[in-house]
Amino acid sequence: MIQYNFDEPIERRGTDCFKWDALQSMYGNAELLPMWVADMDFRSPDFVLDAIRRRCEHPVLGYTMPSDAYWQAVTAWLQKHYNITTDKGNLHFIPGIVAGIAYALLCLTQPGDKVLVTTPVYPPFLNLPKDSGRTLITSPLKITNGRFEIDFDDFESRAVGCKLLILSNPHNPAGTIWGTEVLRRIADICERHNVLVISDEIHADLTLPPHRHVSYSTVSEAAARHSLTFMAPSKTFNIAGLGSSVCYIANDDLRRRFFGWLDALGVAGGNIFAFTAAEAAFSHGEEWLSQMLEYLSENVKTLGLFLKDRMPKVKAVLPEASYLAWLDFSDYGLTHEQLKDKLINEAQVALNDGTTFGGAAYECCFRLNLGCPRQMLLDALNRIADSIS
Ligand SMILES: Cc1ncc(COP(=O)(O)O)c(C=O)c1O
Repeated sequence: MIQYNFDEPIERRGTDCFKWDALQSMYGNAELLPMWVADMDFRSPDFVLDAIRRRCEHPVLGYTMPSDAYWQAVTAWLQKHYNITTDKGNLHFIPGIVAGIAYALLCLTQPGDKVLVTTPVYPPFLNLPKDSGRTLITSPLKITNGRFEIDFDDFESRAVGCKLLILSNPHNPAGTIWGTEVLRRIADICERHNVLVISDEIHADLTLPPHRHVSYSTVSEAAARHSLTFMAPSKTFNIAGLGSSVCYIANDDLRRRFFGWLDALGVAGGNIFAFTAAEAAFSHGEEWLSQMLEYLSENVKTLGLFLKDRMPKVKAVLPEASYLAWLDFSDYGLTHEQLKDKLINEAQVALNDGTTFGGAAYECCFRLNLGCPRQMLLDALNRIADSIS
């Protein structure tokens, strides 16, 4: 068993990566410690990089289709990690999940149709419906015992008349695992009110033991009938720059409609490196993933202990899956602008601004990415604590 080294600092500046190379344009300071964009500062695994290198040894990079070996790797992964039994017939390659959601919105809803999301949420869930002329309906989550929970009375009243729910499962911004019971309740409500569901499961593989991810379509017949599930190796293996995702649909009519639309748009061909990388990741990734999840779990513990010790006034939602934490600084009595000033100009760290996840209600909240070497996390936390207390 190779012991992977997640403590290794990797210099990413100068690779045109968003996280480090967009600091100047986004925050006005290229020297900040970036704890924002949701990718990790770990090296992508060698079995993925090697597979890409091997493919590059052939001198022609022409139009390429997903191979049987690719589909076999994908379906075996879905069976093992999602409890989804399928062959390639129920699956379609998509070049990214945000793109997939956009395609689904355009295919399955009309301008003016209502689209439901629960806030705070990954910003494209808010922007895609608005920017495509749909009507955005938001149901705010509650925080109970440090966890996001759905306010079902509010959720159901807002679901009435909606065409589509975009569900983050697990939930970004804090890796909340919804679990079977909650997903079944969502499915009952959506079935009752004729709401289609996109279940975005991009963070699912990063579920931190002992938590267990539940894939939406598996919770009931209704859920399978009215849903599209999006998943990807991109967060799991830190290969988001390759744009490699998959859509699973159980329902024949829905699948024919949406996959026909994807084929018309010409996205079926994907790209060579997305296929190569996904096949390698899903075929050889179990051990790397389990060691990486252990490391992430330690980072989550480190964050929890640090907050208790140095920033007890921060109300945090810590991840049950993935590497994103939601920090609420409202008990410090500072305004949005004062908090931003402290974080950016004093602490010199870049966090995601809570308002981008759902507006002014979150102006004292920030999202922290802890998918990085522990030393970098501690450095960021010390800087924040020194500036805020
Ligand atoms: C919930 C969620 N969906 C989708 C994405 C992005 O997916 P993609 O890069 O495949 O468009 C992210 C990235 O942070 C995310 O958190």
